[in-house]
Amino acid sequence: MSTLREAAEFTGLLNPDDYAVLSSLVELLPNRRYIPIDLIDEHSGLPPKKIEFSLGKLEGLNLIVKDPRGYRIVYSGLDALALHRLRSRGALDGVGLPLALGKESDVYEGTSNGEPVAVKAFRIGRISFRDIKRKRGYLSRDVHEWLVASMRSAAREYANLTMLSGKGLPVPTPMMRSLHVIVMSKVSGILLRYIRDVSDPRGLLLEILSGVRDCYTKGGLVNADLSEFNILVEIEDFKWRTVHIIDWPQAVPASHVNASDLLRRDVYNVLRFFSKRFKVDISMEWAFRYVTGLTNFI
Ligand SMILES: Nc1ncnc2c1ncn2[C@@H]1O[C@H](COP(=O)(O)OP(=O)(O)OP(=O)(O)O)[C@@H](O)[C@H]1O
Ligand SMILES: [Mg+2]
Repeated sequence: MSTLREAAEFTGLLNPDDYAVLSSLVELLPNRRYIPIDLIDEHSGLPPKKIEFSLGKLEGLNLIVKDPRGYRIVYSGLDALALHRLRSRGALDGVGLPLALGKESDVYEGTSNGEPVAVKAFRIGRISFRDIKRKRGYLSRDVHEWLVASMRSAAREYANLTMLSGKGLPVPTPMMRSLHVIVMSKVSGILLRYIRDVSDPRGLLLEILSGVRDCYTKGGLVNADLSEFNILVEIEDFKWRTVHIIDWPQAVPASHVNASDLLRRDVYNVLRFFSKRFKVDISMEWAFRYVTGLTNFI
């Protein structure tokens, strides 16, 4: 599968007609798997000759695929359109090196008005080439659903980050979203998972629990995927400075029926990590009372 960096290079080759065709393919996407050319005509309002030319070009660049039933946008096309929109709205100057290439998302370094940012592109449903061969028969149906799921996840994470950071809570600041891509402030921290030596690990654990508590009691959200993989810590001379909780697409409101169980699991994951890595043990019962605001006692 192509990368966001490759898509960024394609954006220079595309013109307004190409973007109009890509936009039509995205906007018509939620209801159909393949989009016939007459619907693209109707939706984009472009002359048929121009549409045909663009479709051929986009297909040649592997940004869309053609099928007897119509056309379909693929992740690289979605990337190109999202990057173009983010650039033309002034939210992104460029995409740099990857910060992390994961299972369901890729995160890149970028710049926005000269400032460093993180660019997170959702990639739900990404499977290996071998899997593609094995699952070829189901591919078209799944891909359609995955693109829609990626856009929904990005929208949910963006809304959660906007609410939490608006309340001054310890999460990256979201700057803009387009389709399945989020631009947010870049945290210059290290993933908790990779921290081995830090002074005052107990203080760090309490800082993390205080962040979880504020997101729950002031922000009304449970992250629901919290672990040493979703906590970034800024460190200077082995001393921790600040904590940021990342990765919020799956967060649930505090009013959700499972919120309490999910919060318990989040807290448990963090306590277990501190116990194993730093031999810092805090009682689960106390920690849970603390994050739910039932006790202030430290
Ligand atoms: N705002 C940010 N600033 C700096 N680095 C970030 C930022 N957001 C994410 N990252 C980096 O990208 C990685 C993946 O981000 P995130 O946890 O949000 O995605 P994910 O959905 O967990 O991806 P995966 O599918 O790999 O699990 C993080 O572990 C972190 O290293
Ligand atoms: Mg993560």
